[in-house]
Amino acid sequence: MKAVRFNQFGGPEVLEVIETDLPVPAADEVVVQVRAAGINPGEASIRKGLLEAFYPTTLPCGEGSDLAGAITAVGDEVDGWSIGDEVVGWVDTRSSHAQSVAVPAAHLVPKPDGVSWEIAGSAFVVGSTAWAATDAVQPQPGDVVAVSAAAGGVGGLVSQLLVERGATVLGIGSLENAEWLQSKAVTPIDRSGGLDAVAERLRAAAPDGIDAFVDLFGGGYVQLALDLGVPGDRINTIIDFEQVGKNGVLGAGSADGSTAQVLGEVVTRLADGRLELPIEATYPLGEVQAAFAQLELRRTRGKIVLIP
Ligand SMILES: NC(=O)c1ccc[n+]([C@@H]2O[C@H](COP(=O)([O-])OP(=O)(O)OC[C@H]3O[C@@H](n4cnc5c(N)ncnc54)[C@H](OP(=O)(O)O)[C@@H]3O)[C@@H](O)[C@H]2O)c1
Repeated sequence: MKAVRFNQFGGPEVLEVIETDLPVPAADEVVVQVRAAGINPGEASIRKGLLEAFYPTTLPCGEGSDLAGAITAVGDEVDGWSIGDEVVGWVDTRSSHAQSVAVPAAHLVPKPDGVSWEIAGSAFVVGSTAWAATDAVQPQPGDVVAVSAAAGGVGGLVSQLLVERGATVLGIGSLENAEWLQSKAVTPIDRSGGLDAVAERLRAAAPDGIDAFVDLFGGGYVQLALDLGVPGDRINTIIDFEQVGKNGVLGAGSADGSTAQVLGEVVTRLADGRLELPIEATYPLGEVQAAFAQLELRRTRGKIVLIP
């Protein structure tokens, strides 16, 4: 089978597609033939060697957490899953950007018929992160909550989950994403002109103040939230790790939402229409370099997905 590997740190050009053996399931695993696998900015950071302090890498290294596909083999101790079952899931072994992958049975939920392969295959990282980041700021009905990078992969889901919880959501993004945010009952806040301009627009949009802030971009949004008077324990960042713990600022992310139960909540909402996860682009596995080159422009609305 084919799988993505990199053998040195660097840009998308270090990614290659190699031939390798089909995985064999451990007793508690199944093998999934991957129909779609989302790509995520954290994978690019790992490949550039930027996260070695947190997630050390052994080269050569595979990549990919998100996946959806059909089960082709079942480990001896697995109950409840059969060959042919269509599933949504994840791995922690950097291995889903491949034609087949061994997956712990506990990391799977059934794929609903109403969810496309592309959406199912990119639901996990953004879904688990959005769920945890939303929970962390404890949104209450009537709260005003601001979100940076509100139309990105994580941001689009955070924005919609906050609306579902009854919050008034101010979604910071580029003008290109304003219409989509409005279609999700989110008030778009233009991010152009720098943080001071964004702060002015937020003050104008919420004259009585902002109750909570979800930072999905870094680069000063946590400080902006503190300056606007948002209490630290109602600010959650998934990227500005230096700010986490200072002033009570929270850092809930994917690890806090990595359960099949949370994945099931997200997938159910994608099936019944409470959540939309736009698919910006799909690429065959052999074009993985181009897929990441597009992702790393940081202009994605929703997800970019590999089709192995
Ligand atoms: N801690 C965790 O567990 C965890 C988990 C997942 C992701 N992450 C991190 O969280 C971040 C977001 O992930 P993602 O998957 O949502 O990324 P993404 O889909 O690539 O998000 C890109 C978004 O960023 C926005 N953006 C670009 N420049 C911006 C700027 N200067 N200010 C504000 N927004 C800007 C863009 O929207 P506009 O053009 O509309 O602004 C775009 O929609 C990444 O850094 C990722 O590594 C952390």
